[in-house]
Amino acid sequence: MPVITTIDDLRRLHKRRAPKMFYDYAESGSWTEQTFRENTSDFDQIRLRQRVAVDMSGRTTKSQMIGQDVAMPVALAPVGLTGMQCADGEIKAAKAAEKFGVPFTLSTMSICSIEDVAENTTAPFWFQLYVMQDEEFVDAIIARAKNAGCSALVLTLDLQILGQRHKDLKNGLTAPPKLTIPTMLDLATKWRWGMGMLQTKRRSFGNIVGHAKGVGDTSSLSSWTAEQFDLKLDWDKIAKLKEKWGGKLILKGILDVEDAKKAIEIGADAIIVSNHGGRQLDGALSAIRMLPSIVAAVGDQVEIHMDSGIRSGQDVLKALALGAKGVYIGRAFIYGLGAMGEQGVTSALDIIHKELDTTMALCGRRDVTTLDRDVLLVPKDFEGEWA
Ligand code: GLV
Repeated sequence: MPVITTIDDLRRLHKRRAPKMFYDYAESGSWTEQTFRENTSDFDQIRLRQRVAVDMSGRTTKSQMIGQDVAMPVALAPVGLTGMQCADGEIKAAKAAEKFGVPFTLSTMSICSIEDVAENTTAPFWFQLYVMQDEEFVDAIIARAKNAGCSALVLTLDLQILGQRHKDLKNGLTAPPKLTIPTMLDLATKWRWGMGMLQTKRRSFGNIVGHAKGVGDTSSLSSWTAEQFDLKLDWDKIAKLKEKWGGKLILKGILDVEDAKKAIEIGADAIIVSNHGGRQLDGALSAIRMLPSIVAAVGDQVEIHMDSGIRSGQDVLKALALGAKGVYIGRAFIYGLGAMGEQGVTSALDIIHKELDTTMALCGRRDVTTLDRDVLLVPKDFEGEWA
């Protein structure tokens, strides 16, 4: 067993242990993957100011996201097909998040259902909604999330249609996998994954199969998105969904100041500056590059979160210092889950926490809520001049 010290160690183990089609699903961006790559490489352009002779005792990473206490301001992002990276993956990740004291967000396109996660955890989790054409289904799933005690609705706005990720087409991605010869050859080497899957009944999209109608191939993410997702989702519909939900609302996928302003008009409790991990509009700027202008324009009017590109506690610190109140990790926890189940998610959270805490100390700060631009060295042209 290798010694795990970084998120990348977990990624390598995930790649070894999970079926290729699911590892590739997580590790892809759309088209050329330019945005996917820049989400991480843009973090590297920002440097840190080393400060010395500052009292480092009594440090804390505790904060709040949408008024909820968090052990560190790092939530688990909604990730489709999480329960295919490892059997019962959403339940395992939610348990690890609960023990650590950070929010878990369940995707509409999860394998374990809302009810499965609620039955196996005690802390309220957040539910991410993809809006489908079938209004009855949308009403029902909102009611299901309420019944399960979900404490926020995360409405994703950047995926009415699915960005093309070439590997998913080439691998024939489905949940559960269809047993073609290449898939069977791959699965034969993934015994640990197979043993787990044999012991669970949760192998298809638990929130939607049997609940929503009108899809040809219910095992295929691309069929669900192409045949069921609501192409007509607009700000009026978002306002109506907010009414229906009646609780805390987080709008995910904001990458433009104009859209951030619309989100405020709607009365969102928080927005997530995100390009969906580089999985939707390839060619969009990285989320970390867009963050400062959105913070400058509306940071005093709405709580700002960000995701896309966070792979370390140092990345977390950079995003917080640029004005995010909280961030989300997607791939970083999925690597842990695919590598070692619940223990791997805990390991990912521990790694990120330690990196955040140590970096904060070496930058001369003791409290994560006081981080500001002063701890950073940001290239003058970081945001770029775009006409
Ligand atoms: C969403 O479900 C995605 O695959 O990015």
